[in-house]
Amino acid sequence: MKLNIAVLAGDGIGPEVTQQAIKALNAVAIEFNHKFYFKTADVGAVAIDNTGNPLPDSTLDLCKNTDAILFGSIGHPKYDNDPKAKVRPEQGLLALRKSLGLYANIRPVKAYETLLEQSPLKKDIISGTDILMFRELTGGIYFGKKELSQDGNTASDLCVYHKKEIERITHLAFKAAMNRRKKVTLVDKANVLESSRLWRRVVQEIAPQYPEVIFEVLFVDNAAMQLILNPSGFDVLLTENMFGDILSDEASVIGGSIGLLASASVGEQFALFEPIHGSYPQATGKGIANPIASILSAAMLLSHFDLHKEAQLIEEAVEKALELDVVTPDLNPNNTQVTTNVVGDFIHDYILHPEDRHRNHSNSYLGQSTII
Ligand code: IPM
Ligand code: MG
Repeated sequence: MKLNIAVLAGDGIGPEVTQQAIKALNAVAIEFNHKFYFKTADVGAVAIDNTGNPLPDSTLDLCKNTDAILFGSIGHPKYDNDPKAKVRPEQGLLALRKSLGLYANIRPVKAYETLLEQSPLKKDIISGTDILMFRELTGGIYFGKKELSQDGNTASDLCVYHKKEIERITHLAFKAAMNRRKKVTLVDKANVLESSRLWRRVVQEIAPQYPEVIFEVLFVDNAAMQLILNPSGFDVLLTENMFGDILSDEASVIGGSIGLLASASVGEQFALFEPIHGSYPQATGKGIANPIASILSAAMLLSHFDLHKEAQLIEEAVEKALELDVVTPDLNPNNTQVTTNVVGDFIHDYILHPEDRHRNHSNSYLGQSTII
């Protein structure tokens, strides 16, 4: 298969981790005889520095003319600490999501067996967790009218949803559930918010079209608690934009590191793949950023094009890295020598050398022989 991929590495650790995802994709291309062409473009703080716009037209044009987008991360402290900043890097990502109609953000959350001890949560609680979050991505409070009064003392952000916006992501969530454990949990705040009551009504109307799927509802405050108390009780979690943003960061604790969580943002025409973590400015250039979320986002990209074997091989390589402790210091603080690049190289080599796959890889990342 031939794929044109736009690479928007963005800010902070974005370029370092995205580089590892590209490495994994290049290895897959060689191993399976595909052709992946990468073109880079600026987004976020780096784009503001270069053009004054966090999403330059040239970047948007490139995205509209490619098969998929590989995204890094966005954000810079100089804007975070300036509440008066007129332009913010995050606006680039939001504009991109909106302009490309990427309405469904899909975030898998898994407790890897080999990492059960890494999570601050008890092993017994997280064991077996396998959640697929469907976060609505182009509506709600993120995109509603924003107002600040003349005197600067009153502000509001409107949360608006239209039935159609709820319907399309609901169908995606139920279809995904059909291929999984057949359960959908809608998370809302229908006891307080009108927009949540609309969500509940619309989803309840659609649920009977999927009679095999168990459908349940949870208020978001309770869902936040259940994610910690009983995460393995969730299968597909469906929710609106803001709740999904918050709950997916919370859920990342289950796996032991936010550096493991990948995501796909899809719409009718376009698809973007990105780690859920931010730009982690303190780590920039230090080689300590975990590239796995970005690498797993590349695997989601492959699955999106039905390259399932290829995606599985990346996942297998990631699991091997976790198993053999080829992980960055967020997962093992003793691994000061295991840099972002080392993890990326290990995964690249694992994909590329099928003959070594079942051999002992434990020393390979230190440059020693892979042959026992
Ligand atoms: C995410 C991020 C973004 C969001 C930011 C960077 C705008 O937190 O993808 O979860 O809030 O959606
Ligand atoms: Mg977020």
